[in-house]
Amino acid sequence: MNNKIDQTKEEIKYFHIKTYNDLELFRIKFLGKKKGIITNLFKELKKISIYKRKIYGKTINELKKEVKNKIKIFHEKNDIQNDKILNFDPTIPGKSIEIGSRHPLSIIKNKIIDLFGKIGFLHVDGPEIEDDWHNFTALNIPISHPARDMQDTFFLCKNSDILLRTHTSSVQIRYMKKHSPPFRVLSVGKVYRNETISSRSNFMFHQAEGFYIDKKVSFYDLKQTIHYLITSLFGEVKIRFRPSYFPFTEPSAEVDIYYNNNSGWIEIMGCGMIDPQVLKNVNIDSEIYSGFAFGLGIERLSLIIYQMKDIRIYFDNDIRFLKQFKSEF
Ligand code: DAH
Repeated sequence: MNNKIDQTKEEIKYFHIKTYNDLELFRIKFLGKKKGIITNLFKELKKISIYKRKIYGKTINELKKEVKNKIKIFHEKNDIQNDKILNFDPTIPGKSIEIGSRHPLSIIKNKIIDLFGKIGFLHVDGPEIEDDWHNFTALNIPISHPARDMQDTFFLCKNSDILLRTHTSSVQIRYMKKHSPPFRVLSVGKVYRNETISSRSNFMFHQAEGFYIDKKVSFYDLKQTIHYLITSLFGEVKIRFRPSYFPFTEPSAEVDIYYNNNSGWIEIMGCGMIDPQVLKNVNIDSEIYSGFAFGLGIERLSLIIYQMKDIRIYFDNDIRFLKQFKSEF
């Protein structure tokens, strides 16, 4: 009997309970009604003398307690976790992670990139630090040309021709010099002008520039493309092409839209057929190829679309303002 008791004690101690299944096996092994080791020990008690029965009875009871204790400890460890799992309510909404929102200028910019991507325009970047030739001369704006005054320039060094680009039209020159037509290209980015900050102007703003060169590109293609851009952004609005002047396009036009009755006609962009001289400057044969170009200000568009009055709000980084813009772009 003694041996059996000692052995059982060891077995209880070293029985490894990891799962609820192990726990049940453990219980059955020692306390099972028919074959449980401890149950059988109790049965054997009947066979021994009353005197010894008392002592052994006590020891076997202690074994039983150890088994129960081990079961209790397992429950204590695992039931809390189990409770958590069982009481988990999958219908409670999860904690939402706060994510930032896009800047309104990025929304407009991405929308324009997306629109032109759909009609086969390649999106390219150009440098913000430019030289005089790409920003002015090649675009048919020679040194003494009055058009240079229209765009007050930041020069980077005294007496040098390195400057901060005043418009994205410089990307036309960079791209046309490197590639041969046909091409359809869009470029969006920052431009800089030495202007006093006000509700309508800033020394840095964003432009989108598009150009298309192929055989037999006509003003009709230009009008179609602008029509597509404007109706995609504003819906069906009245559009007006007004004759204008840019050194790098001939003929040139400014485009107005009749957006809402309060504001009447609003000018939104410039465009025109690329001047043959510009094509010559980048070694493209203007007898074979023709093209159109257009340029627009992102801030300006954004003021109209979001009905804002002061351009400075875009650069204040006021989170209360920025938070309001939700977009798929
Ligand atoms: N570069 C002009 C500006 O900054 C905008 C512009 C007008 C671009 C007509 C063009 C264009 O490509 O054809 O004011």
